[in-house]
Amino acid sequence: AGWPPPATKKRQGEYPLAFRLLKLKDMFNSKFGSTPKFYVRAPGRVNIIGEHIDYCGYSVLPMAVEQDMLIAVEPVKTQTLQLANTNPLYPDFSTNANNIQIDKTKPLWHNYFLCGFKGIQEHFGLSNLTGMNCLVDGNIPPSSGLSSSSALVCCAGLVTLTVLGMNLSKVELAEICAKSERYIGTEGGGMDQSISFLAEEGTAKLIEFSPLRATDVKLPSGAVFVIANSCVEMNKAATSHFNVRVMECRLAAKLLAKYRGLQWDKVLRLEEVQATLGVSLQEMLRITEHALHPEPYSPEEVCSCLGISLQELRTQILSPNTQDVLVFKLYQRTKHVYSEAARVLQFKKICEEAPDNTVQLLGELMNQSHASCRDLYECSCPELDQLVDICRKFGAQGSRLTGAGWGGCTVSIVPADKLTSFLAHVHEAYYQRSGRNGTFEKQSLFATKPGGGALVFLEA
Ligand code: GLA
Repeated sequence: AGWPPPATKKRQGEYPLAFRLLKLKDMFNSKFGSTPKFYVRAPGRVNIIGEHIDYCGYSVLPMAVEQDMLIAVEPVKTQTLQLANTNPLYPDFSTNANNIQIDKTKPLWHNYFLCGFKGIQEHFGLSNLTGMNCLVDGNIPPSSGLSSSSALVCCAGLVTLTVLGMNLSKVELAEICAKSERYIGTEGGGMDQSISFLAEEGTAKLIEFSPLRATDVKLPSGAVFVIANSCVEMNKAATSHFNVRVMECRLAAKLLAKYRGLQWDKVLRLEEVQATLGVSLQEMLRITEHALHPEPYSPEEVCSCLGISLQELRTQILSPNTQDVLVFKLYQRTKHVYSEAARVLQFKKICEEAPDNTVQLLGELMNQSHASCRDLYECSCPELDQLVDICRKFGAQGSRLTGAGWGGCTVSIVPADKLTSFLAHVHEAYYQRSGRNGTFEKQSLFATKPGGGALVFLEA
């Protein structure tokens, strides 16, 4: 038993980009009887540290992965938008380009395309669009925390911009795509779309918000980042877990603001409270101890703290799919957010200063991040906890869940000289021994390097 696992037939999407482009051109031809005019790619990402804090206004530290969404495109003279996917699991879809409806009740694949399409259309205030034929080929494992959905939204946004012949900066594109992904019903932050556009090969990025910008973070050369899939699928649009956390953070920000005598009704993010008070993250953690209690809050208690009615809470503050939530763990979520925001800054500082024990220090921060996600934010699951334990046991200096959580992938920092034995042992312990071999594929466990951002190609 061991690494590498026996060679299997190459699965769809495991080919180099040049080969995928040619394959896509051929399939496009069989599907639509014509040749694509251009191609767009947008990558997925792995978040190294800074989980569930982007929508609170705090900086995060992701890098793009090599896996991406690739779309072959041909503008047409009619108003019909025709979408097809190389993966037979995703059925064809067609609609009128001037009447885009996004069904929030079902996270169907084509709806992510429609988010990017509609976002750009609305940005330019256009109402009379021409149609196009698009064939999509994705190789980011879906529902695994590597941002396959945002990559599709971003890819569709760039496709639409290119068809229109308009220009936008990468920052503008990222902001439009982050906003338009919310048409699907999830209240995500802007990390995934920002890194998909702003990524550069060879460097991770610190992504800051308001204003959005990306700064290079040079990762240590003696370490490798390894992604491992727990094989528990989690689609954040299909459940309300994600939005419940966003709302808990929003309520906590309002309660903290009220406690400190600020004008709380306009406050939406925990970062705004810190910025208005002009204090450190450590001080925010101290304020949280006084202002909030560890016992969960009921909707009634939140209302009495803020002096509003249940009706106002439901209709003016909560999102449609969180209106019936009965328990809000405001103290725990807030502690996670402020401490995680501090860990991101420490991580960047260690990368910059590169002390002798850099890998160990970064690993410790990643371990603390996982513990905080598991215990305070409650966005882990038993399989993810087991997987990070296995990764640490076999040589990772640090290991944590990555992305929204409740399933999906872990990311581990592994000293470069231990990589081969690490991969072999984790493969055996998590996938072979626990009967997960059926779900194991090349994409379940792999080392990754910072990849480049979204691009348009004129030829295959
Ligand atoms: C999802 C969201 C991101 C971010 C992460 C958690 O990927 O799309 O904006 O909130 O979860 O860090």
